[in-house]
Amino acid sequence: IHSVSNALPLKGKKVIVTAGGTKERIDPVRYISNDSSGKMGHALAIEAWKQGADVTLVSASQLESPAYIARVQVESAQDMQDAVLKEFDHADAVIMAAAVSDYAPVKMEEQKMKKKDELTLQFKKNPDILKDLGQKKKTGQVLIGFAAETHELLNYAEEKLTAKNADLIVANQVGVKDRGFNVDQNEVTLLSKNNPPRTISLRNKSDISAEIIEWLINFMN
Ligand code: CTP
Ligand code: CA
Repeated sequence: IHSVSNALPLKGKKVIVTAGGTKERIDPVRYISNDSSGKMGHALAIEAWKQGADVTLVSASQLESPAYIARVQVESAQDMQDAVLKEFDHADAVIMAAAVSDYAPVKMEEQKMKKKDELTLQFKKNPDILKDLGQKKKTGQVLIGFAAETHELLNYAEEKLTAKNADLIVANQVGVKDRGFNVDQNEVTLLSKNNPPRTISLRNKSDISAEIIEWLINFMN
């Protein structure tokens, strides 16, 4: 007699999802950031949880997330990297949906800066969290990244797949009205090694997320 397993496909799997745009402090009351809302990352965390995963949501977003999902709130790229690395050894998959700031101010002013006629800020490059994970990953660990592009979407996304040693890059157009950052829908193209690009046409971020999680489930099996 065969027993039919009715366990959810991601039961026992630990999935880390990052979300939102990181904030890089200039002084105690000012920061630079980007237009990411965290909607895509939060939707992915929920979909992974629905499929049985043990999810940690590392979020730089102000959006609420369901109480049943473990959440680590972060602000800067550095905070986000620390939070992800803390759990990475035990993770089966990491989904980097966050829009990590590429730069942070070289120095955070301790006090609120006073106004003057001109201001020049100096920035330094932030750690590339996904690329770092790509170098650290062990057999069986799955890495999913995003590529947010305003132009040459697939070319740049393809480069990121290789440069970051990711298993999947979710390419999405940003800087256009009805998709990408801070809206409820998205249109994405999935790029993975040895497979033709697959476009998921414009739909809700929860439906996009379900497709991405389905890709993950298939890839793990
Ligand atoms: N990413 C990251 N750490 C960074 C920058 C990006 O982990 N410091 C991750 C993002 O979360 C995303 C992927 O890398 O999953 C691609 O991010 P993107 O901004 O599109 O690419 P970059 O590598 O930053 O290159 P560029 O902004 O120049 O296109
Ligand atoms: Ca970037």
